[in-house]
Amino acid sequence: MVNLEHRARSFFLQCRASVQSSHLCRYPSTHSFTRRALSVSAPLREDLSGQKPYYVTSPIFYVNAAPHAGHLYTLVLTDVLKRWNKLLGNHKATLLTGTDEHGMKIQKAAEKANVDAQTLCDQNSQQFKSLCQVANIDYDRFIRTTDSDHKAAVDHFWRELNHAGYIYESKHEGWYSVSDETFYPESQIRHVLDPSTGKTKYVSAETGKDVEWTMETNYHFKLSQFQDRLLQHYREHPDAIVPQQRMNYIMKEIQSGLKDLSISRPSWRLNWGIRVPGDDSQTVYVWLDALLNYITMAGYPLKDTKSPDSIWPPDCQVIGKDIIRFHTIYWPAFLMALNLPLPKRFLTHAHWTMNSEKMSKSTGNVVNPFYAIERFGVDPIRFYMVHEGGIVDDASYDNQYIAENYNTILRNNMGNLLSRVFYSQRFGVREAVQLFANDTGFKVDMAYNEPPEWARNKHASLMSGIIAHRELLATTADQARAAMDIPNPRVAVQGIAQVISLTNKFFHNSIPWKYCQSKDAKLRRLAQMTVYLSAESVRIVSILLQPFMPGQMQKALDMMGVLESNRTFQYARLGADLDYGTEAFAPTPETPRAPELFPKLVSSF
Ligand code: ME8
Ligand code: MG
Repeated sequence: MVNLEHRARSFFLQCRASVQSSHLCRYPSTHSFTRRALSVSAPLREDLSGQKPYYVTSPIFYVNAAPHAGHLYTLVLTDVLKRWNKLLGNHKATLLTGTDEHGMKIQKAAEKANVDAQTLCDQNSQQFKSLCQVANIDYDRFIRTTDSDHKAAVDHFWRELNHAGYIYESKHEGWYSVSDETFYPESQIRHVLDPSTGKTKYVSAETGKDVEWTMETNYHFKLSQFQDRLLQHYREHPDAIVPQQRMNYIMKEIQSGLKDLSISRPSWRLNWGIRVPGDDSQTVYVWLDALLNYITMAGYPLKDTKSPDSIWPPDCQVIGKDIIRFHTIYWPAFLMALNLPLPKRFLTHAHWTMNSEKMSKSTGNVVNPFYAIERFGVDPIRFYMVHEGGIVDDASYDNQYIAENYNTILRNNMGNLLSRVFYSQRFGVREAVQLFANDTGFKVDMAYNEPPEWARNKHASLMSGIIAHRELLATTADQARAAMDIPNPRVAVQGIAQVISLTNKFFHNSIPWKYCQSKDAKLRRLAQMTVYLSAESVRIVSILLQPFMPGQMQKALDMMGVLESNRTFQYARLGADLDYGTEAFAPTPETPRAPELFPKLVSSF
């Protein structure tokens, strides 16, 4: 995994190095040149229609408070993965999100707010749903653990676990954190002074959340029996937990031994939840209840999760690193107990921090995602979150940096480039595309791997720049795909942003707006080649960025005259589209200036 990730990243860096140096290097005049057929125009054909629908999930969020930017981040990652797979041709790609509504945490939040639990759930669940709407999250179902089919799925799953002999009853004592909805072992507990009250209290060492000593009789799941099977599973699937660091961590956790897991609470204590089948005095532990939402979506237990048209199992489950243990140890063990197929991959991401602390509802240091979207626009926020958000390391949320990220990458590099290439008054992209489509000589000129005889000496550096840029574009789509296969959307989007920046430099250094009107026919030809390649860059990059910024990239592709049918991954290849382009821009009193893709921010810092 590290290798894949490393390869994807180093590729983009190498490209940068090769393009930069090619502007400096000059070929010796005796250097022989080669001419090869242009093989870059063959689009990749791939039929994904027979494939199992790609299935991606987000965590289901607690409804104890309103959503914040951390939740938005996870949602954006899942949405990008769904849209990316649609781009690849997996038309039935499915995204599940929703809310986690049972448990002590919600029960207490409702008591505190003096409303009944259902009302609290209805109100806050609606907020997460609204967030999906404004953030353009294309979910296929918004599940709530209070939905009746989910409750039936939990009931059935419990009975099956019990039937298979994995559940037993016993007395349980331990430290419970309501905020984290989990028991912690003694070694994980700290005795600290609470500055707000001056009293000492017990907290979880890992999360700093309050814990309380509880003694109760409840049902247990025989998690300890799954240690070997879990280890074996992860050894056989070393890419199942991304990134590698977290796979290593989980392997160590499993190796250090697994204790049986308490999977119910007495109903007198926890009332707000699903009753244990056959024992009303106990309520199902909220994490068992919650994790099963992913399989409720697959129609469990009514639909066969092993049939070929089932969406089960998930192809990717996106989670924050805070809930990795529940998802990569408990959850697969529950599924193993019933011989159900396991999720293929977990993308575990790091956290957004504010003032060096995890952004969190219970701490209160949160960014309101609705305001952020209103202020910067939905696509700029989506882009910023993926580009800057942490997979391996935490990232600090910074409003000033959002504006900088917008101004440099989106407005100055991407938007400006699109205007300069597609709305030039000196040349038209359409003409360059036509030339490529119909003029064999032009195609041949585009295929040189070293400057040909006619483009030596004073033209050599322009020609070398063209060759290097063509090579960059020939692999851009595959490199983005390699990063998305990991999946590491951050590396993918950073690589694409790199291509935008390199295209800007290429265009700028090659001065096509001047050479296109030169008396020197060779310079005119080199200018046409530059225009063509720059246009291809913007087109390819816009196709690849659609999953990240669906609205803005639709607008960009419209502005370039790219047909709706030519916007899939197959078209993100050099020479794959011969039907797009704009004429040279002629200002009129109604349209005095080229349209702007990324306008100036209303309020800048
Ligand atoms: O844990 N940075 O729900 P939750 C990045 N209901 N992502 C963050 C974040 C931050 N600061 N804060 C939260 C639960 N998240 C359970 C899940 S799933 C069967 C049950 C994201 O409301 C991140 O994905 O506390 C994290 O895992 C999730 O929100 C937790 O949301
Ligand atoms: Mg949480």
